[in-house]
Amino acid sequence: MRDQGIIYGGLVLFLGVLTFPVWYNAAVKANAKPPEIKLPTVEKQCVAPVTYMRTSHMTLLMNWRQEVVRQNVRDYTAFNGKHYNMSLTGTCLTGCHQNKAEFCDRCHSYVGVSGPYCMDCHIDPRQIARSRP
Ligand code: HEC
Ligand code: HEC
Repeated sequence: MRDQGIIYGGLVLFLGVLTFPVWYNAAVKANAKPPEIKLPTVEKQCVAPVTYMRTSHMTLLMNWRQEVVRQNVRDYTAFNGKHYNMSLTGTCLTGCHQNKAEFCDRCHSYVGVSGPYCMDCHIDPRQIARSRP
């Protein structure tokens, strides 16, 4: 009988720990806002369907890199028959996503992807324009 307090206390603690994922998720979801990304205004259609790009844009970029650097192929025929120059800076960041900071970077920092190292070598045209005297 003397242990009743300890038993009930332990039971409450146990239930709290057991249901932690449920109420933690509820609390987090209540505050979670998706990132406000700026979509391109120049073009309405991406080089691949947007559902594909959402999940696999990194794969597409890696394939482009592979083809350009290893196979010297620079022409990309898109799903809709349009042709593009396979270039991260020249096509993606110049022709469409001119606002890298508020598109790529905003989403990457939201999901916690450590800013892809690609920009160590590749150029964000806007950044250059800004840093010019
Ligand atoms: C160490 C420097 C370096 C890094 C880091 C780098 N690249 Fe490149 N990349 C190059 C060079 C050099 C070329 C060849 C450029 C050419 O022939 O036009 C290239 C070509 C490419 C191309 C095709 C040509 C073009 O104009 O875009 C793509 C796409 C590409 N890289 C994507 C990436 C991606 C994605 C990352 C990050 C995951 C990345 N690269 C990281 C140096 C780099
Ligand atoms: C709506 C969200 C979102 C947007 C917008 C976005 N990305 Fe990403 N990106 C991701 C996520 C999520 C990952 C990580 C996926 C993984 O780790 O499997 C990623 C990964 C990448 C990678 C691979 C990095 C690595 O180290 O392997 C590259 C390259 C990349 N993104 C380039 C870009 C570029 C360039 C843009 C803008 C033109 C862009 N992304 C816009 C969500 C986004």
